[in-house]
Amino acid sequence: HGHGGHGSRGLGFTSVAPNSLDALTVADGYRSAVVVRWGDPVLPGAPAFDFENQTAAAQAKQFGYNCDFVTFFPIGDDRGLLWVNHEYTDENLMFRGWTSGDTVPLEQVAIGMAAHGGSIVELERAGRTGQWKLVTRGRRRYNRRVTVQTRMRFTGPAAGSALLKTAADPRGTTVYGMLNNCAGGTTPWKTVLSGEENWNQYFVGGNGVPEAQKPFLTRYGVNTTTAVPSGNRRFDRVEERFDLARHPNEINRFGWIVEIDPFDPDSAPIKRTALGRLAHEGATTTLAKDGRVVAYMGDDSRFEYIYKFVSKERFIPGFDRHNRSLLDEGTLYVATFTGDSPGQIDGTGTLPADGGFDGTGTWIPLVSGDRSFVEGMTAAEVLVYTRLAADKVGATKMDRPEDMERNPVNGAVYVALTNNTARTAAQADEANPRASNRHGQILEIVERRDDAAATTFTWSLPLVCGDPADPSTYFAGFDKTKVSPISCPDNVTFDADGNLWISTDGNALGKNDGLFAMPLSGPDRGHVRQFLTVPYGAETCGPLITEDQKSVFVAVQHPGEITGATPDAPASHWPDGGTTQPRPSVAVAWHPQGKKIGS
Ligand code: FEO
Ligand code: CA
Ligand code: CA
Ligand code: CA
Repeated sequence: HGHGGHGSRGLGFTSVAPNSLDALTVADGYRSAVVVRWGDPVLPGAPAFDFENQTAAAQAKQFGYNCDFVTFFPIGDDRGLLWVNHEYTDENLMFRGWTSGDTVPLEQVAIGMAAHGGSIVELERAGRTGQWKLVTRGRRRYNRRVTVQTRMRFTGPAAGSALLKTAADPRGTTVYGMLNNCAGGTTPWKTVLSGEENWNQYFVGGNGVPEAQKPFLTRYGVNTTTAVPSGNRRFDRVEERFDLARHPNEINRFGWIVEIDPFDPDSAPIKRTALGRLAHEGATTTLAKDGRVVAYMGDDSRFEYIYKFVSKERFIPGFDRHNRSLLDEGTLYVATFTGDSPGQIDGTGTLPADGGFDGTGTWIPLVSGDRSFVEGMTAAEVLVYTRLAADKVGATKMDRPEDMERNPVNGAVYVALTNNTARTAAQADEANPRASNRHGQILEIVERRDDAAATTFTWSLPLVCGDPADPSTYFAGFDKTKVSPISCPDNVTFDADGNLWISTDGNALGKNDGLFAMPLSGPDRGHVRQFLTVPYGAETCGPLITEDQKSVFVAVQHPGEITGATPDAPASHWPDGGTTQPRPSVAVAWHPQGKKIGS
């Protein structure tokens, strides 16, 4: 391949070979650079990063740890705002001699709290290419850090309900902080939607809650048998609200989709209760045919479900006050998937007799405003304990539904199903066709009449991941000798031609994670090619292709995160090199001649 746009829909780059390098590598002809690293100053007065002399006060003004979701809001041609989630912390890589949250200095616990959340940083174009740099001089009026201690509001039907009330917030309307924000999306009114994912791991005292509450905790993976689960970061040592035995409702205030206005650094982020409480991977939006807003959401755990929210009212361009209430009233649905192939799916990944993993599906309503459709549960209970509501209506248990987004060109919705090694052959179904699924698959949903508000759909699996030599893989029928191996799809995005871009987390083929592109139409449908690889021990997050198609941002999360790695024995020195400790960072890749990404 050359760089002249060979291939369908403008993809012409040559695949990067899988590797285990401690480097970010990009397709031939492209360049990459780090944009912002853990510890870089974000707010005025932030000190320069000093690994040996960290403080919580400094971290609260500096770029946080483990960057995940990335989105970019252009301000003119040469400036823009980058929003980044900071999902979690790797204390063993952040601090020398770190042993356990139980015994470390409280300052280290507080640094970890300040390293969670999100950042907004102002960027400027470097030269006339697709490279972007942190603005480091002059006034940066939008820069912001969101942390575990940022004041936020609840809105929607569950706001103010008894389940959200605590001693510190008897009205159930105000909460401090967000936890484990993984992926996300944006709204048509230019705000960020960020998903609180594995928030279950941040609390202690689960053994001390009332017995009646325990099933509602265990269903979300909260430990209810031990006072202090192993590996806990011990936020409760800094703030007692993280002790469930003392504050049993505090945990109900995490697990939401959080909306953040990147253009108003003083605004309180909003937890939108109408979108339910899950291990939210994220939420991405689109408009239904009649203009209602639809948010698609995955619940990222094994055997969890796929959801969507459809607003009651329509989006009205320019009517900001109206639009900003749209996510507070509407209907929350969960999906069922039915295969159309005769006979039993055997769990081996062998294509069914009709030639495809595909079928039909239904969106089952759970709750609409104050009205519950789930027997025995109030609307507030459905929204706070959404997993239990979805269990009751018989939703389909999926292989870890992660990022989910509608393709702006072909209108179909694509879901990354990362993996599920716990699925047995007896549990295999046409949408989750492999037992001990280590490599995951991509699910394509076509809503009835191409209307995002539809309640029925058809679906198929265009990509069943793994080593293409593995007979259980499927690359939409494309010649498997010509594709890149791909494992554990996590985040998805699209370029302006509608090609699917997939980033991976946890490559089970023994090489580094990366970013891949796959055409969805024409003779190249299924021709997966690897565009970049991330450093050793990292996962690839983001990704985001800018509107001008000249830049792709990726978050390099947890470089060097392997068993036994510490600052004294680092597994990665990326990005600073030498003997430095690794730093999670956002990077950008571009073509020096300004060609569109992937051409
Ligand atoms: Fe945080 Fe679902 O990956
Ligand atoms: Ca079929
Ligand atoms: Ca993810
Ligand atoms: Ca992930």
